[in-house]
Amino acid sequence: MESITVGLAERSYQIFFGAGTLEGIGIACASLSLGKQAAVVTNPLVGSLYFQPVQRALVEAGFQVHRIDIPDGEEYKNLDTLKLIYDRLIEEGLDRGAFIVALGGGVVGDVAGYAAASYLRGISFVQVPTTLLAQVDSSVGGKTGVNHEKGKNLIGAFYQPLMVMVDVATLSTLSDREYLCGLAEVIKYGVVLDRQLFDFLESHAERLLARDTECLLKVIRSCCSLKAGVVAQDERETGLRAVLNYGHTFGHAVESLTGYGRFKHGEAVAIGMVQAAKISEAMGYGQRGETERIVALVKSLGLPTELPEFRAEEYAEALMHDKKVKSGGINFVFNKGIGDFLIARVTDLSFLLKTCGIGG
Ligand SMILES: NC(=O)c1ccc[n+]([C@@H]2O[C@H](COP(=O)([O-])OP(=O)(O)OC[C@H]3O[C@@H](n4cnc5c(N)ncnc54)[C@H](O)[C@@H]3O)[C@@H](O)[C@H]2O)c1
Repeated sequence: MESITVGLAERSYQIFFGAGTLEGIGIACASLSLGKQAAVVTNPLVGSLYFQPVQRALVEAGFQVHRIDIPDGEEYKNLDTLKLIYDRLIEEGLDRGAFIVALGGGVVGDVAGYAAASYLRGISFVQVPTTLLAQVDSSVGGKTGVNHEKGKNLIGAFYQPLMVMVDVATLSTLSDREYLCGLAEVIKYGVVLDRQLFDFLESHAERLLARDTECLLKVIRSCCSLKAGVVAQDERETGLRAVLNYGHTFGHAVESLTGYGRFKHGEAVAIGMVQAAKISEAMGYGQRGETERIVALVKSLGLPTELPEFRAEEYAEALMHDKKVKSGGINFVFNKGIGDFLIARVTDLSFLLKTCGIGG
């Protein structure tokens, strides 16, 4: 099985990839120093599709498996769901030697990861991401946590998994909309970190839309290597890791203005990346034609590019409420053309709004 290392000294771990890798999860877990009790956290939908093969592989490798289902959806990424997991872990009598397997998308990964970080002051956990977003982004890097009614991801911890097992075959059952949301995050890596990846996405758009296994493996490998590199340099987001927020400033504003119902996160990020590209060009970064290429790629991968209509004051307020706002301005991620970036403080909100055609 192919793998990439996330280099974090004594907390380093491997990301394994392939098609059909779920079958190997038992052997892979057996190669780590883990206890015999495995709690597989999943949701009813993902569990109905993939719990059985995971259970079989773990049992064959000598583990005892406990299944914990959490409700499906971002609205359940909260403290109630976390309590549900703790309750089950306690009921099943799982001790510090037990480990958690997070089987699902980013929601399952974030909540189960935080349960692992906090149960008995921390037990081991393994990520088995089943959405494209989780395979290229959320399962790697150790950000775990839940939302609070006052905001997203307000409660959590940096807590690295012992292993990430990516099985691209699981993407075959993902809805089109969720799949495209994952592609938005893939585009992000290309725009700010890897020109070759961007070129590849441009020339393989159709195959990607058809979920071609070989193409997906190449893309996931590239994204995970990029993320591993970023995390190894800046695990706790004190600097470089913020590059992964590219497109998120306007993306979050769009999500909050539309009440988190109309656009999925990846769609909002796609719109946000288009705005970031326009702003970067207006700042003089990059070369002629690069913004057009970014917009064209976003469109060709079936994602939205247009900001929803709201007044300039509404956008201004939404932008200022973002987590990345520090006193005196917004920490903005610019693309320097394609494949490079710059993070800088922006204090002139009206420049951002005007460049994006907001408020005339
Ligand atoms: N930890 C991080 O670094 C990080 C990074 C980015 C995003 N996130 C978080 O990730 C979450 C979003 O994750 P997501 O986009 O994976 O959403 P998600 O976990 O809600 O999954 C989307 C939907 O797809 C379903 N699903 C999952 N795998 C499937 C499969 N193989 N086949 C069919 N259906 C499947 C899920 O049940 C769900 O209904 C957000 O909470 C976000 O904050 C975390």
